[in-house]
Amino acid sequence: MEKDQSYRPRFHIEPPQGWLNDPNGSVWFRDRYHIFFQYSPDSPLGSGRKCWGHYTSPDLVHFTFEGISIYPDHPLDQNGVYSGTAWVTDEGLELYYTGNVKHPGNYDYINEGRGHNVLRVKTEDGYKLSDKEVLLENKDYPSDLSCHVRDPKIFEEDGWIHMLLGARSRDSHGGLLLMKSKDRDHWEIEREFFPDDFGFMLECPDYFTIDGQRVVAFCPQGVDTDEWHYQNIYNSGYLFLSQNISAASDETLRKEINTRNFREWDYGFDFYAPQTFETPDGRRILIGWAGVPDVPYGNGPSVEEGWQHTMTLLRELTLRNGRLYSLPVRELDQARGRKLSWDQEHKRLDSTCLDIVVSAGATAENGAPGVSESAGATESGAFKADGSAGASLHLQMNDDLTLTVDGESKMASLTFLNDSGAGRSSRKAKLEAADGFRNVRILIDRCMIEIFLNDGELAFTSRYYPADKTGLSLSIEEPCAVECYEVGDTITIS
Ligand code: FRU
Repeated sequence: MEKDQSYRPRFHIEPPQGWLNDPNGSVWFRDRYHIFFQYSPDSPLGSGRKCWGHYTSPDLVHFTFEGISIYPDHPLDQNGVYSGTAWVTDEGLELYYTGNVKHPGNYDYINEGRGHNVLRVKTEDGYKLSDKEVLLENKDYPSDLSCHVRDPKIFEEDGWIHMLLGARSRDSHGGLLLMKSKDRDHWEIEREFFPDDFGFMLECPDYFTIDGQRVVAFCPQGVDTDEWHYQNIYNSGYLFLSQNISAASDETLRKEINTRNFREWDYGFDFYAPQTFETPDGRRILIGWAGVPDVPYGNGPSVEEGWQHTMTLLRELTLRNGRLYSLPVRELDQARGRKLSWDQEHKRLDSTCLDIVVSAGATAENGAPGVSESAGATESGAFKADGSAGASLHLQMNDDLTLTVDGESKMASLTFLNDSGAGRSSRKAKLEAADGFRNVRILIDRCMIEIFLNDGELAFTSRYYPADKTGLSLSIEEPCAVECYEVGDTITIS
């Protein structure tokens, strides 16, 4: 009998069945976007073959599952076609990835017993792949590195093609390895860099520029949690660099790549291993895995349905106020369907696929006319920082979770009140805006929730398994304007 699929999202990329983790090789190529991903078709718990699954999209809204693109069928990727990226050439597309090998025996699989190789496949149309080529094996990396060297990112800088890899040293420090090449076939070691304080391993590095600002991004493992940061077991974020990563001195890198400057992409329970790519019109898009490895909380309800994990929505990055803001790509507005009305008397929305925008300050439209004046809202609905406290927010969904912003401390927090979080508790982060809460966009997709505060200054992504599968009761204490749409199906899995 077909398993119940009532938690399966309608507008997030998800596996047909089995397990999904990192996005891979995301790229605009010829006439469409390609999003590959870490895919274990054999089990929702991730065991069995680790392949690259493949989605395409003409428009960043509608996605079609194209099947499995790369199987672990080569001696140097036999235990997993691990993460990697795409590189577009005049002839076609090249996909670079880590081939994982676990040698049978009694090894620690860190310093011995594992192969992390760089392999490449080429394709002229994005679908039909060439034979696999082996470009690098562990013996080609510096000898102070452990076997963990993975997740190649390819980029061009200063007349060279570079490959940036995440690494773990033999004495367990997380670092970056840069290789370089003129022809993309022959690679030489360029530099290693081990920042002081990022734990034992850096995964999934990325490097790009946005409005002329160089950005390096990665996922550190083993950084201690502090009050405001690194609340998940593993984290992911970015830093700004003032010089090219291949040319900057070690001293400059040390000054700039450290935990004080690191900004996390997302403060929710489920965000990891993102990568970025560029649209034909030059926008920088971030897509992440809405999950984190080795976490103490679970996804039991979706595992029962035979699948686990989704991607995050695709997010457009903008450089503002010295940081990167992220919001769902503007194209997603096309997926908005029926407009739903909400007011303080009628709080229930009769769908669980929703795009909700809440702005500080009330309007006549949402049934609280006149309150805005006493609450001090500006014409645009934002609150002025004319004294100590900015606007606050106390929002609750069903009996399940709260989202709050404290206008005085600028603390934002997402808290589960019951087991709809499947073990998730509370996450918090600080807004930098002096005026506190201005607006929030919340996208709910059956068992996914993505929250973007103050035009994308802070994001919280989480899995959420509401007992009520037919609608959502939304309570907000403050006067506010609420705009809400049902979001339609955008994912095709035939
Ligand atoms: C990140 C990661 C990558 C690796 C892949 C394997 O989640 O551990 O470093 O390539 O997943 O699935």
